[in-house]
Amino acid sequence: MSYGRIEHHPVLGPLPRAAALSFSFDGIEYTAREGDSVASALLAGGVRTLRLHEEHGSPRGIYCNIGHCMECRVTIDGISSVRACLTLVKDRMSILSGTVLPTPFRQETKTEGSPDL
Ligand code: FES
Repeated sequence: MSYGRIEHHPVLGPLPRAAALSFSFDGIEYTAREGDSVASALLAGGVRTLRLHEEHGSPRGIYCNIGHCMECRVTIDGISSVRACLTLVKDRMSILSGTVLPTPFRQETKTEGSPDL
């Protein structure tokens, strides 16, 4: 049994086992099952934080799990901003978490009376 993966459903019973795949996330090796999304494979591996918020660096993870919120963006095999919830894991896939990116909207200088962000 792996962390976060349902092996035996209370109504459906034991779930069929799919072929095992290996992938890395931030340099750490994980095992997935064929048909897993990147998000579900990471969740099964105990990973909750997929990136950091661009403005304040808070941890972000799976939110909608249907491709709408963009909270699950990661870099896959060198391609940035890929939604983990919509992408199937492939064997030997290399995944990197999102990092804090510069934003053109951040005000770098604090003026008198402005709130601390
Ligand atoms: S979790 Fe919302 S787009 Fe992936």
